[in-house]
Amino acid sequence: MSTPATLIADDLLRTQLHIAGGWRDGSAGESSPVIDPATGETVAEVAVATPDDMVAAIDAAQEAFAGWSRTPAPQRSRILRRWYELIVERADDLAQLLTAEQGKPLAEARGEILYGAGFIEWFAEEAKRLYGEVIPTNNPDRRMMTIRSAVGVTAAITPWNFPCAMILRKAAPALAAGCSMIIKPAEETPLSALALAALAQEAGIPAGVLSVVTGSGPRLGEVLTRDERVRTISFTGSTEVGRILMAQSAGTLKRLALELGGNAPLIVFDDADLDNAVKGAMDSKFRNAGQTCVCANRIFVQDGIHDAFVEALGREMAKLRVGDGREPGTTQGPLISPAAVDKVRRHIDDARDKGARVVQGGDLTERGRTFFTPTLIVDASPDMLLAREETFGPLAPVIRFSTEEEAIRMANDTEFGLAGYFFSRDIGRITRVSEALEVGVVGVNTGLISYEGAPFGGVKQSGIGREGSRHGIEEYTDLKYICIEGVA
Ligand code: SIN
Repeated sequence: MSTPATLIADDLLRTQLHIAGGWRDGSAGESSPVIDPATGETVAEVAVATPDDMVAAIDAAQEAFAGWSRTPAPQRSRILRRWYELIVERADDLAQLLTAEQGKPLAEARGEILYGAGFIEWFAEEAKRLYGEVIPTNNPDRRMMTIRSAVGVTAAITPWNFPCAMILRKAAPALAAGCSMIIKPAEETPLSALALAALAQEAGIPAGVLSVVTGSGPRLGEVLTRDERVRTISFTGSTEVGRILMAQSAGTLKRLALELGGNAPLIVFDDADLDNAVKGAMDSKFRNAGQTCVCANRIFVQDGIHDAFVEALGREMAKLRVGDGREPGTTQGPLISPAAVDKVRRHIDDARDKGARVVQGGDLTERGRTFFTPTLIVDASPDMLLAREETFGPLAPVIRFSTEEEAIRMANDTEFGLAGYFFSRDIGRITRVSEALEVGVVGVNTGLISYEGAPFGGVKQSGIGREGSRHGIEEYTDLKYICIEGVA
């Protein structure tokens, strides 16, 4: 088999910082390796930016903002559309790159590229619809209106689990609104970000409008939060880091869009369609090997359907194939790092100690390293770590319940509130439970809810703001009220 590096298109394998339309090394001359989680090999050495490099990117973004925000919306829209087309044309090459640095199976990586590109297509159109309003006046001598104007320089701090889609979900609305943006990708997965920047440049996005600055999250994040010129920071990642960014941003009163940790409940009621509930649980739990913020983290199953559900879920889980994402037939890639493996193990050990039974999986596959067997646990309970923390791995814990009230109480018994799922065919229950779940996104009879045209985001400690949909552009605009007197 070819090595990962030989499968990557040369023109997309960028390893330098992208600032002010140019490509350059970090000013301290440092680099850091990008590790293929499947092989442990180094895919590439990527430049490490210093705080001064980040300031240079902010300077360039500030300069570029003036021209980009004044570019007529249809023109911005056409340039964004071209970026979208280039990403779709290069989806296979981008998928190779994404799998090499993140691990997910190629088909899933390609799916992520198209999912991410969908945000550009959607917001390219939305650029032309950033309407203001005319307010009925309170005085014949006055006219009142609102306009939406781009906030200015913005930044995206993005995670390793979706190295492409989480960037495009932020950059597309920002650029559509007329903002410039600096992307600080996760240290584990900077290559997709740099490749997207190369395609943005090819599409004609002007110098400085989109920069990618790679390196240490805490060091570079601090520069972004403390700089007054950066008006919005959109972050996807842990609640812990979200809190730090918020505290650091207090001095410059920035707008923050935070998409943070989840602890998604997935509830299967007795009246659910069993096959569909199992499919939904598989889709939600095992996407990206369990490494998404919206993965079902706690599976609550009602008494009457419990045993049949567990048996059917186990059967489907046994069909999953864990391996290198480039190997045909692989459905589950490796976990991102040995630390991720440790967390899954800690949750399994704790559950066993507290009386749960591991009925399938429970450890690494025979390949070792970061390849974890999809694991099914029954007799789990809300006091276990796996129900309190986000596992971020292929662990499906089943918690039994008896009544609707009990299920809702347990589902909401968490500081998080990103996604929640449930399966039922009773319209009254569908209405009640949808309204009662304390989450930002509800999937009813489905485990897949993400779509560029729908608002995505959490409540409670899962975040602030919404991404995607017409609401996703709001974080990048200011609403200005204009009152004109002396018109009569
Ligand atoms: C995430 O895990 O943060 C995002 C998942 C999605 O967009 O579906």
